[in-house]
Amino acid sequence: MYLRAEFLSLENMGKYDIRIERVKNSKIDEFDSSNLKFGKMLSEHMFVADYTDGKWQDARIIPYGNFEISPANSAIHYGQSIFEGMKAFKNDRGEILLFRPDMNAARFNRSAERMCMAQLPEDLFIEAIQELLRVDKNWIPDAPGSSMYIRPFMFATDSALGVKPSETYRFMVINSPSGPYYAEPVRVKIETDYTRAASGGTGAAKTAGNYAASLFPAQKAKQDGFDQIIWTDGATHTFIEEAGTMNIMFVIDGVLRTCPLTSTILPGVTRDSVLKYAAHKGMEINEAPIKVDELIAAIENKSLTEAFGVGTAVTVSHIKEISYKGKNHNLPPIESRPVANDIHNFLEKVKRGQIEDELGWITKFQ
Ligand code: COI
Repeated sequence: MYLRAEFLSLENMGKYDIRIERVKNSKIDEFDSSNLKFGKMLSEHMFVADYTDGKWQDARIIPYGNFEISPANSAIHYGQSIFEGMKAFKNDRGEILLFRPDMNAARFNRSAERMCMAQLPEDLFIEAIQELLRVDKNWIPDAPGSSMYIRPFMFATDSALGVKPSETYRFMVINSPSGPYYAEPVRVKIETDYTRAASGGTGAAKTAGNYAASLFPAQKAKQDGFDQIIWTDGATHTFIEEAGTMNIMFVIDGVLRTCPLTSTILPGVTRDSVLKYAAHKGMEINEAPIKVDELIAAIENKSLTEAFGVGTAVTVSHIKEISYKGKNHNLPPIESRPVANDIHNFLEKVKRGQIEDELGWITKFQ
């Protein structure tokens, strides 16, 4: 059904009235969920809502497609643009499962605050995602290792060239039936020239510019045969921070180590979940700054037994090799890494509804 409700105010409603316009000719029969790549295919519908006159208005699910944008759009010129990454799965009863969506909703608003953008009611964030998944339920892939990658995002829509916060925004959700982000363990380089984030900057916000700034150093690293960069602190390049698509963790002397959350680190939902799960399992955890020299010494004296990245897109990504100042360090074999393998196994199974949700993280709906 297609109801026009252009200037519907969402503020005064208990439940958001999302109008739905479905595609006329669905392509679902042509959908092949085997051999999916990450983020290349998009499902048939998208969610859109606009912030004008101080209110979120006209919440709608419409066929996925292009839209017009002013050449003076302030997000293009000044970068007010934020996003989230989430995944949905279907269990064997055909229910849709989301993992800790409240965490993403809350982080979205923290990013919005830092980027001086409009706040979005957390229940609208979650309802938009749930309704869109219901509409495109048949696009949620079930091949092993696959998922529906969800990309909620918001950008400024004012058309003006003065540097100031936009007064209007668009919130959207698009969904991508996806395969794994990294299919294999990764080789990473510890970056000591370029900087991802400076203290007091936007490093803790999930904003487009952080990713833009990472592309050139990441491309250089790729040319040298690396999959990813491990960023170090911008001031001294002597402390480990994160990789651009994931937080970084190590097991050193049997202790799970990761750097603390500061203004330069993205507060990952997977990071938080791994730390909570490890604590639940009784593992010793240390969230303290990690010196690069300490890390290299731990590799050399073999007290480091595991290194891995954690994030929504990657879940858990084993690191097989770390390069620092031109020297490559091979890490222990993947099979001999009980901590990361157990965490990966737990997170994948709980997200897919294959084991009990003992930590209460799953939102389930039809
Ligand atoms: C995610 O893990 O969802 C991310 O946002 C990382 C990357 C794909 C941009």
